[in-house]
Amino acid sequence: MNHDHTDTNSSASPCVMTICGATGDLTKRKLIPALCNLAQEKLLPEQFAIVGFSVDDFTTESFRQNLVQETPKFAASPIDTKFLDSMCERIYYVKGDFQDPDAYQRLEQQIAETDKKYNALGNRLFYLAVAPRFFSMIVKMLGLCGLSKEENGRWVRVIVEKPFGHDLASAKQLNQELKQVLTERQIYRIDHYLGKETVQNVMVFRFSNNIIEPLWNRNYVDHVQITAAETVGVEHRGGFYETAGALRDMVPNHLFQLLTMTAMEPPISFDADEVRNKQAEVLHAIQPLTPEEVLTCMVRGQYGSGNIDGQRVVTYRSEPAVAPDSNTETYVALKLLIDNWRWAGVPFYLRTGKRLARRVTEIVIQFRRTPFVLFRNTSVRNLQTNRLVIHIQPEEGISLSFGAKVPGSVMKLGLVNMDFDYCTYFGMEHNTGYERLLRDCMAGDATLFQRADMVEAGWSVIQPILDVWHALPARGFPNYAAGSWGPIEGDELLEKDGRAWHRIGEEELDNRGRIAPPAKAQKTGVAT
Ligand code: BG6
Repeated sequence: MNHDHTDTNSSASPCVMTICGATGDLTKRKLIPALCNLAQEKLLPEQFAIVGFSVDDFTTESFRQNLVQETPKFAASPIDTKFLDSMCERIYYVKGDFQDPDAYQRLEQQIAETDKKYNALGNRLFYLAVAPRFFSMIVKMLGLCGLSKEENGRWVRVIVEKPFGHDLASAKQLNQELKQVLTERQIYRIDHYLGKETVQNVMVFRFSNNIIEPLWNRNYVDHVQITAAETVGVEHRGGFYETAGALRDMVPNHLFQLLTMTAMEPPISFDADEVRNKQAEVLHAIQPLTPEEVLTCMVRGQYGSGNIDGQRVVTYRSEPAVAPDSNTETYVALKLLIDNWRWAGVPFYLRTGKRLARRVTEIVIQFRRTPFVLFRNTSVRNLQTNRLVIHIQPEEGISLSFGAKVPGSVMKLGLVNMDFDYCTYFGMEHNTGYERLLRDCMAGDATLFQRADMVEAGWSVIQPILDVWHALPARGFPNYAAGSWGPIEGDELLEKDGRAWHRIGEEELDNRGRIAPPAKAQKTGVAT
């Protein structure tokens, strides 16, 4: 086994990181655990400290205590307390209203003192872990008090969380407002999907293996499926989700990251703009949907009550902060076509939803049939086609299914899998997905962050759907039971093209050596 870890990436530079909205969940759930993991791996500079900035009533002392107590409860994987304690010793707190100019004076003073103490060389990283309505305001205030200014070789970078806009117009407006203060080079629009190892590996898999790329086109690929299914409901985020819905929440960002990584042309280098140019090209090549196509190529759904892991769960409309007659979609499936030489005529089917049967994110490349059935005079009539599955989460790996002879004196073919599992091969690492992104930002590498034009190109694809859905609100919600695979129309979207969704987690060879055919979604007796 040869793990070549040669790392040519530049390292993170010294800086003071300010977390705006530091008292929110993201700090405890992701940011502090990620920084601790980076420190543990010696990937964080010594000249580094954090300033928390928020309206809540904390002092530096009480904020530190709160983080030491709360972070282990929120973090997804265990944190070494030694690193947590030492990280918290480097944290300072400024209480202030994001609209109050005086608060920024105090912030500026704290950053300057911290910078001096840790010799952070005047570099500043601002993380906007706040509600979207504060993005522009905070950046404007940073500009007014001079905190956004880069001079004498010092850098200032701003990480902006999702959602980046609510539709095409608001995304454009937000870009414009940020650019009144910052240059594009200073803006790091984050999408945590790009922090996932398995997502980054899509590019490596495609562009470092000579046997893959020749097949990766319309001559060999029948269609592509991208699934991001969750078992959780809206949890405590009903208020936000009511204004977003599954389409806005998942598609122009996370699912389009997976789509562009899968469909992009090989870049000429791994330079940030070279890679992002190729991703942007894919988004621009997506065939725009006409209103009629929105009706035929898009499916929306909302969960009713049902069972998840043996537990009864309530209908979406009974979730906290959700309207009892809500028409917000919690499931969406769509078919897109990419108008270029590589992908013309190859459908990309995307689906995502809450309260589905399993938590799984995967990309399926379904290859075409062999041109000629060699075994037609045997019992083998229907050769199954090759399928490559890139497992993003919770399983992490890649599997390739191919036909093999079932042992015996009669010619029978079965479809078998060749599996690569990340965990078995590389072992498990504690990773929140934010480590790489934080470190890249500190190193000035924007490859895994969204550029303004990419965000706008993504929204351009979504906007016609939003328009049609706005004009024709959904009827018949809820239309799938919690714990199912979504509404029956989601299955029909593929069936009418003679295809079927990959039957996740249920692949078993039947007694004739074939993977059992996909189960049909049930028209559920959805209880509201
Ligand atoms: C977030 C969405 O961006 O991604 C959530 O707002 C969703 O609704 C989450 O649950 C999914 O992320 P992950 O990493 O759990 O797949």
